[in-house]
This record gives sequence, C-alpha cells and structure tokens, in this order.
Amino acid sequence: MTIRLLDESLINQIAAGEVIERPASIVKELVENSLDAGSTRITVNIGNSGLDTIEVEDNGTGMTGDDLPLAFLRHATSKIKNELDLFKIRSMGFRGEALPSIASVSRIQIISRTEDTEGVCAFLEAGQIIKMEPCAHTRGTRIVVSDLFYNTPVRKKFLKSPVGESRHIYDMVCRYALARPDVSFSFVNEKKTVFKTPGNNSLRDTLTAIYGRDYLQHLVDIRHQGSTLSLAGLVSTPELTRTNRRNQIFFVNRRPVRTPLLFRALDEGYKGLLISRQQPVVILNLSVPAESVDVNVHPQKNGNSLP
Ligand SMILES: Nc1ncnc2c1ncn2[C@@H]1O[C@H](COP(=O)(O)OP(=O)(O)OP(=O)(O)O)[C@@H](O)[C@H]1O
Ligand SMILES: [Mg+2]
Repeated sequence: MTIRLLDESLINQIAAGEVIERPASIVKELVENSLDAGSTRITVNIGNSGLDTIEVEDNGTGMTGDDLPLAFLRHATSKIKNELDLFKIRSMGFRGEALPSIASVSRIQIISRTEDTEGVCAFLEAGQIIKMEPCAHTRGTRIVVSDLFYNTPVRKKFLKSPVGESRHIYDMVCRYALARPDVSFSFVNEKKTVFKTPGNNSLRDTLTAIYGRDYLQHLVDIRHQGSTLSLAGLVSTPELTRTNRRNQIFFVNRRPVRTPLLFRALDEGYKGLLISRQQPVVILNLSVPAESVDVNVHPQKNGNSLP
C-alpha cells in the first residue's frame, strides 16, 4: 500500500461532499458570504431548481482583483486570523472552504467591485480560474454558479426531484430573510419574483412579505432579556398550527440552527396547549455571548453546540 497526498482539486471535491449536499447548500454559503460582506440588499435567482443556475447578487463590500483569486483557495479567509477568533465567531463564515468547494463541482462566473477599485470578472471551471479581466460593475458581488455537479454525476443522482430541491432553496432563503429583517432579500425562481422583503428591520413586515397577512394576527411578540441571554421573535397562538416543524425557525445569534434542544424547549413551552401532532409556528432568535457557542461542530454550521 502506498500512501500519497491527494491533489488540491480532489481535496476540494472531498470537502464539497461535506459542505455542498444539494443546491440549497450553495445558496446558504453564498448568502452567508453576502451577509458577511455587510450587504443590505441580496437577490437570489435560481433556474431549474438551482441545478442549471444559482445567482446571488449583493451590494456588500466586494472584492479587489488581488483578493478575488484568493477567495477560491482552500483555507483562505478574511474572517478569522487566529485561534482566539475561532472561539468568538461573529461572522457567518470562517473556514475559508465554501467557495473552493462550490467551484470544484460547478462552473462559476463572478463579478465584484469594491468602493475604490475597478470591477473584476472571473470564470472558473472545476475550481480553476480560466479567465479573469477588468469589467464594469457597481459596488458588490454577483456570483453565478452553473451546471452543478456536472463533474460528479453520482452526486447528482442523489438529489431530490426538482420540486423538492426548489423547496429546500425557498426554505433556506426564507430562513435568512427572517434572520435578518434589516436586509432586503429578493427570491426569484424561473424569472418570477417569489418574494421581496423590505429590509426595514421589522420581523412582522418581513414575515408578511414572505407568507402573507393571514399569519400575522395569530402571532405574538416575544421579548425577554436575561442577564446573558436574550430571546426575541414571534410565536403562534394555538389557532395557528402546522403538522410539521418546517415553520419552526430558530436562530442563535441570528444564525439559522436546527437543534433538538430548542425543539424540546418549544414542546415543553406549549405543553397542554396543543393536541398531539399540532406544531406551533415560531420564529425565535436566541442571543448569547459569541464565546459561549461553538459553531465549529458541523461543516455546515447548522447544529451549533450550546452550553
Ligand atoms: N459576496 C462576497 N463579498 C465580499 N467578499 C466575499 C464574498 N464572498 C466571498 N468573499 C470573500 O471570499 C473569502 C472566501 O469565501 P468562503 O465562503 O470560501 O470562505 P469564508 O466565508 O471565509 O468561510 P466559510 O468556508 O466558513 O464560508 C471570504 O473570506 C471573503 O473574504
Ligand atoms: Mg463563506
């Protein structure tokens, strides 16, 4: 048996196996990057359930022509510098893995511009930059991911039906839009705008933009300030229930999370109010000191470890 070091593109494809499970995972990573770039407007535009194209455009800080190639290198990040930073993560990303992973299983076109440099445009195939040139653009970044899994056909076979994948993407964009009512999110599917949130920092207005007015009358504001923890959001009265947990959305420090601990806490809170199998609608953000959660317990960062 000979042991050898794997080449970079294979390493990236293996990492993509962890991080990029389906088209919605790409949407998640790109939206998180746009949020970390301080964007106030983010548009997600998908074609054929994200399998043909996923386009995310933001008005964030953008990247310079020098930084852009670095963004596609593994373990290259602008978000943490040392071990200390790792234990008080305030950004959504920090692993420096998402873009090289996505690039290794798709074709990418990216255009970016910072406030004081000229725009730059690059094309990548299977993780390699094949063309890069200056181009005109407003401040921010537009990234178009096409032909997902074109070079990993087995992966493609494991995907759900196009309707299933679209639903995953829809849920993903909803979650981030509700996590960040201060940012205006637009979601466009097959050239049709599905929703556009106002970005006015009102959770109720954001919710109305996504689900319509009917929900609102059955939702109660929750606001609790403890000594180190605080809880804020909306929870439904027993008149508004569902039969699954799809509309139970939790954030920890505004990062969407799915953890059994919070579902259990919710079940406990509603005990005696609902008949079995009825599930309340909940959108709740738990704020805790950054150093008291470890977001680094899962490559997709969605099951963070609470104390
Ligand atoms: N939309 C964007 N606007 C500005 N800079 C961006 C954008 N997307 C990516 N970048 C830059 O590219 C770098 C690499 O992005 P990538 O998503 O691969 O890693 P990360 O966000 O640092 O960590 P993670 O792998 O945990 O997401 C980021 O650190 C950031 O500096
Ligand atoms: Mg990232």
